[in-house]
Amino acid sequence: MAYEIASIPGDGIGPEVVDAARPVFEDVAERHGFELSFTRYDWGTERHLEHGSMMPDDGLEELEGYDAILLGAVGHPDVPDHVTLNNLLLPIRKGFDQSICKRPAVLLDGVESPLEGYDGGDIDFVVYRENTEGEYADMGGQEHPGHDHEVAIQSAVFTRTGTERIVRAAFDAATEREGHLTSITKSNAQAHSMVFWDQIVEEVSEEYPEVTVERLLVDAASMDFIRRPEEFDVVVASNLFGDILTDIGAIITGSMGLAPSANIDPTRTSPSMFEPVHGSAPDIVGDGVANPLATVLSGAMMVDHLGEEDAGEALWNAATDQLADADAPRTPDLGGSSGTEDVVEDLRSRL
Ligand code: NAD
Ligand code: IPM
Ligand code: MN
Repeated sequence: MAYEIASIPGDGIGPEVVDAARPVFEDVAERHGFELSFTRYDWGTERHLEHGSMMPDDGLEELEGYDAILLGAVGHPDVPDHVTLNNLLLPIRKGFDQSICKRPAVLLDGVESPLEGYDGGDIDFVVYRENTEGEYADMGGQEHPGHDHEVAIQSAVFTRTGTERIVRAAFDAATEREGHLTSITKSNAQAHSMVFWDQIVEEVSEEYPEVTVERLLVDAASMDFIRRPEEFDVVVASNLFGDILTDIGAIITGSMGLAPSANIDPTRTSPSMFEPVHGSAPDIVGDGVANPLATVLSGAMMVDHLGEEDAGEALWNAATDQLADADAPRTPDLGGSSGTEDVVEDLRSRL
């Protein structure tokens, strides 16, 4: 088999981690008897600063034919984030109806959690984040600029289709894992959207009698991610809550530099997109120390999604092997002093 991958390294450390990880993916493909051919798109804020747009007008049509997309990060100190993100990353997620965002949070052997008393294997959950609507709907506007009665309105949108599909995906995942689902909302304050969400969880739960369902409010859930992370199995949440919770999930399992993510179109009509949870990390850009493992693990999710499960597992194993080895190179976010390339080189030797 041969797969065509569109790579969009993007901004900041995006190009550092995507370009570093690419040979790892090519190696694993070769060893597992398939081809991954990457086409690199220099879309992002540099392009915006030079040509006035993050990607070409027909960018989505260009991407449509690929088997998958590998993205680095988007976001640049010289241009406001709502401009860059709303013209590259979010249009791809929405345009390709990548409605399911899957973000595992696993504390791996050899990785130190900032939480005392947690060792490898103690934390292992996955967040199912609704990915195309909710609080990220582009609904609203500003009126009366410059006047005292200036106003900004931003509405959230929760459709039955969108809510049911993420909730169902999370229940399906729970049946394949420990059978425990936590739905995280804010129904005490958001009496329309979140109550609607709860109602759909309740309805769908009837189809999954073997799954135990826990409901948490997002404020308490943020506390419990830190107080008792070992008790979570599958978590389902809205777009914004899923975003926030997965940064907590990343840091309690060691680093932003380790957290992978998949934006899936479950109908497989359009390509799905794989990207680290982290952003463009302007504080370390150009230093050559960005951790490439979040991108490598996102690539593992990508090849798995393409049906190359053995290759996906091989990538996970190489990464877990490396992290478990106290003598292996590690980047500063994990307490080491090695660079991006050292980590990649070592990883390739373990595949
Ligand atoms: P960030 O994730 O870029 O960085 C947060 C912290 O984590 C920083 O200290 C950074 O150095 C560290 N970090 C992140 N990735 C790392 C890696 N691979 N290795 C080592 N350390 C790593 O979040 P931020 O600083 O809030 O955002 C920076 C920019 O990125 C903003 O423009 C933001 O909008 C954007 N952003 C983009 C995405 C995306 O493209 N998916 C995600 C989050 C943030
Ligand atoms: C993420 C990011 C994005 C999001 C931003 C950059 C729009 O934080 O992928 O987690 O909120 O989805
Ligand atoms: Mn985020």
